[in-house]
Amino acid sequence: MLRVSDLNAWQGRSQVLHGVSLDVAAGEIVCLLGRNGAGRSSTLQAIMGQLRAEGSIHYQGRQLLGLKPFEIARRGLAYVPEARSVFADLSVEDNLLLGAPVGRRAQRWRVADMYELFEALGQRRQVAAGLLSGGEQQMLSLCRALMGNPGLMLVDEPTEGLAPAMVERISAFLAHLRSLGMALLLVEQKLDMALDISDRVVLLGHGRVVHAGTPQTLRAQAGLMREWLMVPEWPGPV
Ligand SMILES: Nc1ncnc2c1ncn2[C@@H]1O[C@H](COP(=O)(O)OP(=O)(O)OP(=O)(O)O)[C@@H](O)[C@H]1O
Ligand SMILES: [Mg+2]
Repeated sequence: MLRVSDLNAWQGRSQVLHGVSLDVAAGEIVCLLGRNGAGRSSTLQAIMGQLRAEGSIHYQGRQLLGLKPFEIARRGLAYVPEARSVFADLSVEDNLLLGAPVGRRAQRWRVADMYELFEALGQRRQVAAGLLSGGEQQMLSLCRALMGNPGLMLVDEPTEGLAPAMVERISAFLAHLRSLGMALLLVEQKLDMALDISDRVVLLGHGRVVHAGTPQTLRAQAGLMREWLMVPEWPGPV
């Protein structure tokens, strides 16, 4: 569905991605792992057309590189950046409606579907989004992206700063989307959750892919984890 090949990308003048290749199939969660500054967010930004980039990015067989961010969104990609950006002064419902597709793309999801997915949003539909908790704002960002009826979602650290119960709900939500055939490229710092939920993982170091495989193959390589993820609490291969 998504095929990134030999991608180089720049943040301003400095090159932050060096020959990154990865792919994501429909109904699959692929997790980008790495230390701070490894280039995970930059990879999502480059796919969304927000960085100067070279190489190729194919989605459903068509080249995305060179398109503008709004054109890429129209092709069916949704991006939920790290900073949950909701329109603080608008109600939950208006935030959701703003996510609905523009142009000729079919509307698959209705606001009511979102309230079914997350009851908390339904209960607070008339509340200004800025008054929601961090977890609720994250749900809202995800649901607003979903309203655009994407085939692929790029989601950057959706559980950052959230309480364990909320982490569980977000994780279950992402797994549910996968079961509906969504393709997901996820950046997730919580390693246990990332390895639990992902079908495949891509480990980045200094803007390069240093390992790609399944969560099982990564778990079995404590050396790789130590070198590129630096998780002192990691108990070793299981
Ligand atoms: N807006 C920016 N301007 C200049 N350099 C940036 C910018 N954003 C990121 N970088 C640099 O690009 C490199 C990759 O950063 P990126 O944000 O992709 O990392 P990351 O893996 O998402 O890690 P984290 O989210 O923990 O910062 C880093 O060296 C970072 O300093
Ligand atoms: Mg990041």
